[in-house]
Order: sequence, then C-alpha cells, then structure tokens
Amino acid sequence: MKKILVTGALGQIGTELVPYLRKRYGTDNVIASGRRIKEGYERVTETGPFEVLDITNREKFSAVIKKHGVNSVYHLASMLSATGEENPQALWEVNMNGLINILEAARECNCSIFFPSSIAVFGPDSPKDKTPQETVTRPTSIYGISKISGELLCDYYHSKYGLDIRGLRYPGVISNDALPGGGTTDYAVHIFYDAIKHGKYTCFLEENSSIDMIYMPDVLKGAVQLMEADPDKLKHRNAFNVSAITVTPKELSTEIKKHIPDFKIDYEIDPVRQAIADSWPNSLDDSAARAEWGWNPQYDLEMMTEDMLRVLSAKLNQVS
Ligand code: SER
Repeated sequence: MKKILVTGALGQIGTELVPYLRKRYGTDNVIASGRRIKEGYERVTETGPFEVLDITNREKFSAVIKKHGVNSVYHLASMLSATGEENPQALWEVNMNGLINILEAARECNCSIFFPSSIAVFGPDSPKDKTPQETVTRPTSIYGISKISGELLCDYYHSKYGLDIRGLRYPGVISNDALPGGGTTDYAVHIFYDAIKHGKYTCFLEENSSIDMIYMPDVLKGAVQLMEADPDKLKHRNAFNVSAITVTPKELSTEIKKHIPDFKIDYEIDPVRQAIADSWPNSLDDSAARAEWGWNPQYDLEMMTEDMLRVLSAKLNQVS
C-alpha cells in the first residue's frame, strides 16, 4: 500500500496535488506537509493528515516519515527563480539542503521520490528552440543551479543506493487555485486574475518572450503517470522535459481578448526576471517523456485559456 508524504503541500502545485493523490490512494494515505499552517488552506490542512514540517530540519523529517510509515515522497517544497535572486543563500538552504535531507531520510526507509526540476536547468548556451532532453545545462540563475545539482544528486542516489527517484523539468505552471510564489513564469497566471478583475494587465516580461507552459490538470496527471510508470520502460527515469503550450505574453493576451475583447496589456519590464527568461529555452522537446511513459498533455493554449477564464470568473464571482 502507498503511504505518500507531500512537501510544499500549500504551494501552487501542492494544494491541487494533495486532493488529487487523496482521491486516488485514499485520504489517510497522503500526508500533506508545509512549513506552517496557513489560513485559507483548510482544504489541504483539515481534510486529511497534515504535518508542520520544515524540510531543512532533517530529524523532524525522518521522524515524520517513520511515524506515518511513508514509502513515497512528492518533494514539492522549493524556492523559485525570482525570489531566489533576492536571497541566493536562502534558496540554497531550502532547495539543496532540503533535498539532501529528503534523500537521506528516503535512504533509511527506501522511499521512492518525485523530484520536480525545471526549464531553469538550461542556460544561455543551450539550444533555444525545441531544447533537447540531453544538451548543454549551464544555468545562470541560482534556482537553475540548484535544480541541475538536484537532478544530478537524484541520479547519484539512484545509482549509488538504488533509490527509485523520478522527476520532470516543469516549464511555467498555469493554475487557478493557489498562486505561484516568486517565479519568472508567474505572469501567465497573474494575467488571468487581472484580466477578469480589471480588464488590463501590466506584464513584467517583454511581449515576445517565449516560454513553455503547462496547465494544472496535465501537471497532476503527468506526475502520477510518471511515478506509476513501468521502471523497465524508463531510460531516463529522472529530469524529463515536459511541455504543452509554447506562448509569449503577446500571444496569451491575444487569446484572452477572444473572450474579453476590451482586455488590454502593457509592459513594465522587470530586468531581473527578463534576464532569467532570456536565459531559458523558447520551447522544449519533450519526446523522451512521450516515448518512455506516455506524456500526452490535453490542454493547448485555447482550451487552457477557456478553462482558466471560466473557473476564475466563477471564483472571482464575475462573468467573463
Ligand atoms: N515556474 C518556475 C519559475 O518561474 C520555473 O520552473 O521560477
């Protein structure tokens, strides 16, 4: 029987992955965890087991794993690219020392691990378009440096200790429940809130900055699909490129205008986030994920935009 621990359960992906996993594996078999209990997240903290857990605390981490008999960890807790540039040392502590703690605890009880990496592992020297699975990975953001180091460390723990560690390189994640916290791709979420609330959005990236995106239902399905995949079919196991939508701020605003004709976008470029975006791929080649474990996202730009506006309009109690 699966006993799953989710770190970062109150983050953008966690708030939706926890209910998804609870539905699939049983409420009591999915232990959500976060640094603190946050108001407004009762749908995660009060609907099943929840542990207050700082991932930089190795002893507490091991104790939680033992207490619940955890045999699988979805390790979502992480600082993102833009906040990382504000405090690189804090990012290293959370993203790297947190990961080591999890790998060590997993080694003690032979847990499987899901490790989300990012398009941030690529850098200015990587091919820009349809960036391959295997290519130059010399990132320039501290977030990207932590993610490529994390990928390598996960591979090392697999080959050295035989741990079953699998992971993906996420592009921007678009969702309508919890907001993303401090990423370069956050514009693609904020634009929907502002379109519905104010009919206009000021974007911090240039209009032609192309970055890949995925809509949350595909994120949830993909994570579980990879973790349940037949290991014999996985040549890579870890760090799979995944993508669904290749888009620029201008193209996204054009799509939103089809539903909200008066929607307006203007631009106030944030040099830090623009530099990060410029160092990342325009689009990814995700053929390895498609071939090895059947990655097949459902939502394209049109379907995602339609669904985001419908769900968010209802949530924000307005008509799109
Ligand atoms: N969404 C992340 C960020 O922008 C990329 O993985 O930091």
